[in-house]
Amino acid sequence: MAISFDKKRKLFHLTNNKISYYFFVNEKNILQHLYFGSYLDDINIESITNLGWDWSKTYLEKDTNIEKFYQDNYYSDRSLTEMASHGVNDKKGAPIIINHKDNSNLTDLRYKSHRIYQGKPRLSNLPHTFLNNDFEADSLEIVLGDIKDDIEVILTFTIFNNLNVIARNTTIKNNSSDEIRVRRAYSLQLDLPHSNYDLYHFHGDWCLERQISKQRLADGLKRISSNFGRSSHEENPFAILASPNANEDEGEAIGFSFVYSGNFAIDVNVDKWKTTRVMMGIKDEDFEIVLGKDESFVTPEGLIIYSNSGIGELSRTLHDLIRNNLIRSKYVHAKRPILFNSWEGCYFDFNTEVICEYIKDAKKIGTELFVLDDGWFGTRDDDTQALGDWYINKEKVDLNKIIKTCHDLDIKFGIWFEPEMINPNSKLFKEHPEFALGYKEMDRSLSRHQLVLDTSNKKAVDNIFEQMCEILDNYDIDYVKWDHNRWISDIYTYHLDHKYQGEIYHRLMLGSYDLMERLCQRYPNILFEGCASGGGRFDLGILYYAPQIWTSDETDPVQRLFIQYSTSMAYPLSSMGAHVSKNPITSYKTKADIALFGTYGYEFDPRKLTQKDIDEVNEVADIYHKYHHEVIQNGDLYRLYSPYETNYMSMMSVSKDKSKALILFANILKENNRYRYLKLKGIDQDKYYWNSFDNKVHKGDYYLNVGLNLTRWLDEFTSFLIILEERESYEEN
Ligand code: DGJ
Repeated sequence: MAISFDKKRKLFHLTNNKISYYFFVNEKNILQHLYFGSYLDDINIESITNLGWDWSKTYLEKDTNIEKFYQDNYYSDRSLTEMASHGVNDKKGAPIIINHKDNSNLTDLRYKSHRIYQGKPRLSNLPHTFLNNDFEADSLEIVLGDIKDDIEVILTFTIFNNLNVIARNTTIKNNSSDEIRVRRAYSLQLDLPHSNYDLYHFHGDWCLERQISKQRLADGLKRISSNFGRSSHEENPFAILASPNANEDEGEAIGFSFVYSGNFAIDVNVDKWKTTRVMMGIKDEDFEIVLGKDESFVTPEGLIIYSNSGIGELSRTLHDLIRNNLIRSKYVHAKRPILFNSWEGCYFDFNTEVICEYIKDAKKIGTELFVLDDGWFGTRDDDTQALGDWYINKEKVDLNKIIKTCHDLDIKFGIWFEPEMINPNSKLFKEHPEFALGYKEMDRSLSRHQLVLDTSNKKAVDNIFEQMCEILDNYDIDYVKWDHNRWISDIYTYHLDHKYQGEIYHRLMLGSYDLMERLCQRYPNILFEGCASGGGRFDLGILYYAPQIWTSDETDPVQRLFIQYSTSMAYPLSSMGAHVSKNPITSYKTKADIALFGTYGYEFDPRKLTQKDIDEVNEVADIYHKYHHEVIQNGDLYRLYSPYETNYMSMMSVSKDKSKALILFANILKENNRYRYLKLKGIDQDKYYWNSFDNKVHKGDYYLNVGLNLTRWLDEFTSFLIILEERESYEEN
């Protein structure tokens, strides 16, 4: 069992023999955190907790009113803990804030009991990591009780045996007969004994998603968060604390990732003692959950990922976790089709004939799945109308003919939806104005001419579900692109009693997840792709339902070098929608090389391709068929050069058995033929590999230590896509 409890010392040890997480229950039943990091056989509680003299070492005993010393080196203001109580001496921030029946926010949580078991619990209604068998992980549930009211807080920890990951979440249970209001319910807290870290997180905008922000962790509170009602373009529910000397291959890195798609906060607080408290969960702004007697609130799941060999290893751990223990789709490991999307080719300006021409020309570049994007339904000729009216615009689109054209060419067919939105100019809004968020009395804020559908209202969800089923049941559809083109605002719903209005953001998310779940269950053969004006909802919550997400509406290949590089820190390449676009800044070959390090597809007017363009993309399509599935989709990623720090973006992916690799090297500015040796990573030093660049066989250690000699004149935006394949010896070419 990977989790042990030493009864004498009341000491918990969560370990998989590579990492250790230690905490204990002190004499006052407070959970004191001890250690998180590389494996430690044992720990000395006394030595680790002794912080010298301090006024906070004593307390006033409740029955006698006598000042007493805390045993166990507990300091009420600065000890590291597992779950700080709110309103007591600890001012570093508490993960849970409860407003009690007496209107007090003071909560004092103490250990009551615990349970250790093999396996991992499932979260109903929320996305979460799962196990393929019970032996993959062990779990610990700790019940804390409030000292005064009958409220329980249950902390759940799961440690994975083969991955350095701890999953956590928290349940708040009201056992009293009085209503309580939960004003903050974070999923986890992790206290660390120093602040000597660099903080990495993503920051961005539409067409500029997940740009790396790296800074020395400063004193005080740093909050990475979204109140956009979705994980957002602007921030992302992911952060890393890394030792200042850490790089891709060396140093300690602790990652935090949240399995949720709505508002979130990652609070990193460095206090005056230079300790660091990280808390992660649903953002507490516009958040209040009312719990009646016997009601519970279950938080989403938060993940802590550990690496002591750099950020590259941390990413690979997450990639494996996401591919094996989060994405449920049958397509997660299956070879994905080369996708052609109609959007950037024709936007709304199409009819059946145009689309059929597209399909025929898309076939010439190896398209295996044709996706009809926005514009096929209701009166949708532009973006001012029809969201909510999910029936075919038969005057514009003969869907049977389009699908038949695909099938005649052995191409699968996919279609676009934006289920969680409603245009005021739609039949649905006219019939059900109450399905849109916001007060009727206000000038509601539009964005892209649309309002937000109230997915907290089951009737609205049912309506959309039925409309979608009508399409999906009656047409042969293999793929759905699920878009979400504005953030959430005008937070008011008519269908909920006023006392629940503080729950709307979360209830909207639950309603959206319910819709996704119902559709995934009913259509297990459909390949779903997430999207939110590009990558505005690129998170682990969505990946639970869809194995791939459109990474960004930015299809400029050079910008993509940055976006895809940083996105890969937290998400596998197999989840990153990447298309060759019409953007003229580079050749089609370079655009295809870059798109290959994603899910690979096309998005332009295929009728306008020259024979040279066709040949260039087909060359990459051949490589896609031969290697992508094994090497990129299911392989291990190594980042070689960061475009944020150098003139290059380079990464390589290696098949799990280390027999093959694909390497992408792209430069940004022009460079002369200076010395340039690209040292590879991740391959076997003792194996022989042929490479497609100099068409020679070298031993692994040569590639690892000397590298590929790329000393060449490089024009702007040159890219090399290099194949490595195992050979028996130097002789075999
Ligand atoms: C935003 C998406 O990111 C695009 O790819 C496209 O689907 C449009 N929406 C359609 O409205």
